[in-house]
Amino acid sequence: MSLAVDRLPTLADADLRVPLVTGGSVPYANLDYAASTPCLAAVRTEVDRLLPWYSSVHRGAGFASQVSTRVYERARSTVREFVGAKPDSAVLFTRNTTDALNLLGRSLPAGTQVFRFATDHHAALLSWRTARLHRLGVPASAEDSVRILARALAEAPNGPKLVVITGASNVTGELWPVAELAEVSRLFGARTVLDAAQLAAHRPIDLAGWGLCWIALSGHKMYAPFGSGALVGETDWLSDAEPYLAGGGATASVVEQAGAEAVTWSGLPHRHEGGSPNIVGAYAMAVACDAVTRLGWPAVVDHEQALTARLCEGLAMIPGVRRLRLWADDHPTVGVVSFGVAGFDQQLIATALAAEHGIGIRDGAFCAHQAVRAVLDNVGFGQSDRALRASVGLGTTAEHVDRLVLALRELVLDGPKWTYTRTGDEWRPTPDPRPVPEFLAGGR
Ligand SMILES: Cc1ncc(COP(=O)(O)O)c(C=O)c1O
Repeated sequence: MSLAVDRLPTLADADLRVPLVTGGSVPYANLDYAASTPCLAAVRTEVDRLLPWYSSVHRGAGFASQVSTRVYERARSTVREFVGAKPDSAVLFTRNTTDALNLLGRSLPAGTQVFRFATDHHAALLSWRTARLHRLGVPASAEDSVRILARALAEAPNGPKLVVITGASNVTGELWPVAELAEVSRLFGARTVLDAAQLAAHRPIDLAGWGLCWIALSGHKMYAPFGSGALVGETDWLSDAEPYLAGGGATASVVEQAGAEAVTWSGLPHRHEGGSPNIVGAYAMAVACDAVTRLGWPAVVDHEQALTARLCEGLAMIPGVRRLRLWADDHPTVGVVSFGVAGFDQQLIATALAAEHGIGIRDGAFCAHQAVRAVLDNVGFGQSDRALRASVGLGTTAEHVDRLVLALRELVLDGPKWTYTRTGDEWRPTPDPRPVPEFLAGGR
């Protein structure tokens, strides 16, 4: 682990201290990378360098506009390469993975059947309003997921089909058998889209090599929190679809015809990028792609795996704490670990860890309600519908992990040291003397 840690880039939140209800402050132990990663320092530096040149994209003759347009178009190439897509693939910048999947969802040919697993994140599960939906049940193993998909595809009527494949689960971190699911889909003539929200910053992706048609990803989960995501992949369905957002940028021409507007829509990529694009977000994403690539996947993976193993060993020693998984204990994961604590309200635990120890983890059902219910059932916690989740990334240290394990142990054995009251679903420290940061204190 030391080699990887020595080479890690600094994060923009590296010096962040957070206040405690008991007084004073501690360095923030951010163990919520699966929700949003902090910003890489390199991303912030590069965004700062871009900002003086920040100008309109594809809309100006001015020199800064030309520079901005080049930056934006170069970002497409960087993201395309990062995900291993073919050179002729479309790269459409979106707001995030949800937006990218909804864009694809609106571009399906009429009558497309969509196959997705009940355990998928809601973005992957629900973005397909106009299609005929197949709900695939909870698989007992990775191999079982391939069998379930093959059976569903074999029984499905003819017509266009799309299979939604999760790269890594945001609930359990488990890696799905992406290449195998893609191969089965191909055998049955189905297209595929990879939900790479939890994969992109944690494992190398080979879109073309894995035989996938599209990928959706989010900048804010890959160290580039400036509001950009992307949909990358095949052009035909996207070229034929109505523009995702009608308006400027998506139009080649608008003329009056018989008292109405006759519109010729642009081709890709502009067709689906109506309005002024988010050049800062796109550039940030490209810089993050380059930074992670330069760091090298072995360093990234070793670092996260070592910390995940340390975390799991620590959690296993705490009475009443059960790790939540869909599949066998030895199935590979990214650095996402969900768990339940017997006899406690999970939200109270997350609140007390933040208030008394300066630790940030997630509690709830993680926008994947069916998956959370399934994994809670697996360990006999079926009476609850909430879990806890700790997740690691480039800025996580062994101290963060150890602090979580020690604090959780103390909470489970001795209970919270502060008082908390519950309003609705939420526990809050009462009183809560933690000062808000100075920039918020003015009531802006
Ligand atoms: C597996 C998975 N898919 C999709 C999403 C949606 O990502 P976003 O909120 O960036 O649109 C998430 C977010 O947590 C996720 O974990």
